[in-house]
Amino acid sequence: MRPSVEGLPEPDLSVHPIGLGRNEQGLAGRRRNQIALLERFGLRSTSRLLEIGCGIGWLAFDLAAHLDDAGSYVGFDVSPEAIEWLRENLAPRLANFRFDLVDVQNPRYRPKSTRRADEVAFPYSDGQFDLACAFGVFMHVERDGIAHYLREIARVLEPGCPALLSFMAVTPNDIEPRNGQRAYVAIAPGVYRNRPDREGWSLAYDDALIRTMIADAGLAVVAFEEGAWHGHRRDAGSETVPGADLYVVSPEHR
Ligand SMILES: C[S@@+](CC[C@H](N)C(=O)[O-])C[C@H]1O[C@@H](n2cnc3c(N)ncnc32)[C@H](O)[C@@H]1O
Repeated sequence: MRPSVEGLPEPDLSVHPIGLGRNEQGLAGRRRNQIALLERFGLRSTSRLLEIGCGIGWLAFDLAAHLDDAGSYVGFDVSPEAIEWLRENLAPRLANFRFDLVDVQNPRYRPKSTRRADEVAFPYSDGQFDLACAFGVFMHVERDGIAHYLREIARVLEPGCPALLSFMAVTPNDIEPRNGQRAYVAIAPGVYRNRPDREGWSLAYDDALIRTMIADAGLAVVAFEEGAWHGHRRDAGSETVPGADLYVVSPEHR
């Protein structure tokens, strides 16, 4: 049986920023695309889904209509405010949904913590999930943190099951990569940011570096979709977060 989503409180944009800036109109497209991508890559009513960087819970809100009693959703984030809101407002109404706070420092989203992303084990057991996603998260995580998160994804996902991960991925075709008005500036080999004034914001990585980190984590790329942010693309791409690039990865069979 599916939970009743009638009367479910809508996520509150004032609780925590989720990268929309003033462009709240982009939210509807983001929600549609995230669900469509998950459906395309294996979402079922019985999925056991992990969302990394769940923000204020839009995906959880939308998934309430998709998962039944045999399915489950776990989302985690670094924002105490977002997780508190989700625990108070969504968790009591959705039996198989759980929201976890991970204590990880992030210059934009959790400046007060002192723990690095590469120091934190996901609080889940090996092979607990059969689907995972991180939409709009790895633009805000440093290289070592991403490498560690990828290893954790490989651990908590069942072998052969997909994780959908969005990145801003720079390819050799991107001569002067820029997102909107802002150019990406190289800050280390294969690492760029387009807010030189704000450390840890808006990071992009070379596609080759992303693929190396994915392989080193014991994951294989099973699908790739180029995002619309690249200057040479005119269509919408996978449109997760401003047309980010999508890597669908899966743990190799152990
Ligand atoms: C741009 S928002 C996207 C939120 C949500 N995925 C969506 O698409 O609406 C980025 C989210 O990643 C979270 N975040 C940043 N660093 C994180 C980390 N190391 N681990 C988990 N979440 C993180 C932020 O707190 C924020 O909620």
